[in-house]
Amino acid sequence: MGTRDWGRGKPVRGRGEVTRVPLQACASPPGDTVLGALLGGDPSVRGGALGPDRLHMALVDLFIGGTETTAAALAWAVAFLLHRPEVQERVRAELRQELGPTGTPQVGDMGRLPLLRATITETLRLRPPAPLALPHCTRRHTSVGGVPVPAGSIVIPNLFAAHHDPETWHRPDEFLPERFLEPGAPWRALVPFGCGARSCLGEALARAELFVFLGHILHHFRLEPPVPGALPKLGVTAGTVLRCPPFCVRLVPCQPPTP
Ligand code: HEM
Repeated sequence: MGTRDWGRGKPVRGRGEVTRVPLQACASPPGDTVLGALLGGDPSVRGGALGPDRLHMALVDLFIGGTETTAAALAWAVAFLLHRPEVQERVRAELRQELGPTGTPQVGDMGRLPLLRATITETLRLRPPAPLALPHCTRRHTSVGGVPVPAGSIVIPNLFAAHHDPETWHRPDEFLPERFLEPGAPWRALVPFGCGARSCLGEALARAELFVFLGHILHHFRLEPPVPGALPKLGVTAGTVLRCPPFCVRLVPCQPPTP
């Protein structure tokens, strides 16, 4: 925690360019698209059209917040599943049992695919894509767990540490999706999307994307290393987004077992 001004309120260079490109590509976007709604084309959305500066910030939030994080989580899930092929097989069996050999997972199927959901949850626990969330500034004097925090402090939530605390998590450094299927899992300590009023506004979209994408991949392909034993590295390096080191994977189309 500290009390420096991190350039809040300063203009962002290149702002005009960021908004000009999508607006040129699509001058009159329909009201039921994201850009159309932001430009006031959807009468059911309160607040009216965004001006250029706010439009810029909204687009940057959606692009930065909504692309790399989800892609990183998907890459980590594939990497961990290469290390635990037996979990892959169990998720595939669950998908086949619930959706049949050719069905495709939809968002509405989340309730009946608990192991797929647990696999995604465990990936987000072990490698939270935004490990230090976003910096927040206290507007008034407050405290966290009894520690006083003066007004104007920058507070950086360490989600990675919360997800690896050995006092909360059994074998915290291991990929164990099963932990979220057992009674008494410490759900309250799981905060990959932050918590409180400023938690991630894309959480539902991100969860839906991860569920549908990973479900599709595992339903139709077996994930294998390019050569036996060439498994991805799982180490982490500091960064705003926790990315998996690059790795190769073979996607082998798999047929359902013949009855
Ligand atoms: C797996 C995917 C994602 C993860 C792990 C993630 C995680 C986070 C975290 C930790 C925060 C900061 C919360 C805090 O500081 O307390 C955040 C904020 C935010 N996220 Fe996400 N996010 C993901 C996907 C998305 C998507 C898909 C979108 C939008 C399409 C999005 C948009 C945002 C925005 C706009 C904020 C700022 C919210 C605010 O300041 O009020 N995120 N996200």
